[in-house]
Amino acid sequence: MQLNVFEREIQKTKVFSNHWQFTDDPKLVSFRELVPEILSTTYLTHSIYYYPAKFIPQVVRFCINEYTQKNDWIIDPFAGSGTVGLEAIISGRNAILTDLNFLLNHIIPIKIPTQKEKLTTTKLKKRLDYIFEYKSSFTPNWSNLNYWYPIAILEVLQKLWAGQKSFEQDLYAQIIQSILIKVSKQFSYAEHKAPKLFISKTKREYIENLLKRDWQSELKNIVYESSFETLITVNQFINTNIDKQNQVKFYGGVDSSTFQHPDDLETSCMLTSPPYLQAQEYIRTFKLDLFWLGYDENQVKALSKLEIPYRKATRWIETETLNKVRIGLEREDLKEMLNSYFCHTINALENASKNLKAGGKACIFVGNPKVDGIEVETWKVLLEYFTDKNFNLNAIFEDQIKTRQLFKARKNKNPDGMKSEFLLVIEKR
Ligand SMILES: C[S@@+](CC[C@H](N)C(=O)[O-])C[C@H]1O[C@@H](n2cnc3c(N)ncnc32)[C@H](O)[C@@H]1O
Repeated sequence: MQLNVFEREIQKTKVFSNHWQFTDDPKLVSFRELVPEILSTTYLTHSIYYYPAKFIPQVVRFCINEYTQKNDWIIDPFAGSGTVGLEAIISGRNAILTDLNFLLNHIIPIKIPTQKEKLTTTKLKKRLDYIFEYKSSFTPNWSNLNYWYPIAILEVLQKLWAGQKSFEQDLYAQIIQSILIKVSKQFSYAEHKAPKLFISKTKREYIENLLKRDWQSELKNIVYESSFETLITVNQFINTNIDKQNQVKFYGGVDSSTFQHPDDLETSCMLTSPPYLQAQEYIRTFKLDLFWLGYDENQVKALSKLEIPYRKATRWIETETLNKVRIGLEREDLKEMLNSYFCHTINALENASKNLKAGGKACIFVGNPKVDGIEVETWKVLLEYFTDKNFNLNAIFEDQIKTRQLFKARKNKNPDGMKSEFLLVIEKR
């Protein structure tokens, strides 16, 4: 398809047959205030794994309370760290989660444990003692590995990971895995206070100084202490009387635009936050973690190629708002990114909403990023597109960003030029 031919057409004056006119302004809200029963965004097991641009649980809880009933099925095609899964199970709903990142498959078993018996510190300590005595090594399948570590640290991490992989992958193993993920970045040259995988000068100095100290004891203390803390959090979850009749199905490492859901699946709600337009590349961000977890270079490369919006558009999405942005953009690479973003984001949303019952809601949480100084009103583009298909508008909420922490090191009031985030709620006809 010749995208620039279409573009010339638009510039000529395009008349839209089913032009949708937006009259109501988004309703200004604060989801934190609307859901005061959630006191902290990191409560229970929400914070075991770090993930960039996580949902705040209040938004998810609000949608679950407003738009679903007990035992309903909720789908999230951009599940990331599984916030929707945890909030669904706490609220007595079922969830189906898909995400390109394999990490989802490692996060959910510990974030939403299914076992009923509490964990013991004695058992965890035994496992930890075992991995610190382990003699064999695990070598990640990554040609670049030595670039990220001084050899002495690498050798120790390789033994710890080999030990962790040697035992049954139960909850104890998953606790240790979550901590090894953290220390494998902290004890590398990679800047661990930023999501992007890169080596900074300060981090290199930090590691050089660390090597002059008793770093082995420091590493050991961190692993033991953090593992015990995580055990307490996991036990808190096990202690809550969450009805384990409900289920969370999860599929990490899949492209949500083509993932095949069973025909008999009926969902009541799609609740999701797509990637940001010019966001961090998730797969690149998690490279180090994925290689330690045992994925190989080919698997990681194959995933990167499917990431939104870092892949080619396969169709041309037209809406009034999107076309206006296109006309304003001069740079070809940015136009391509915009086309790819809306093509694949919409493909994934359409695929995930196929099984939505009539009257079911799609709750889509997005920002309005700026591209080359031009604001892209994402919610408007999605609204124009979906009301042209088989959805009606239900509500639009605007939550002004106060201290949403997109990335650990960037307590950022206005990330990527965004001042607000929007929750678009549309209803299937
Ligand atoms: C904003 S994050 C979602 C975070 C999630 N709401 C949470 O609370 O953790 C967007 C997600 O989209 C995923 N993604 C990007 N391209 C994808 C694709 N083609 N199929 C499925 N997921 C994709 C990324 O891996 C990332 O986890």
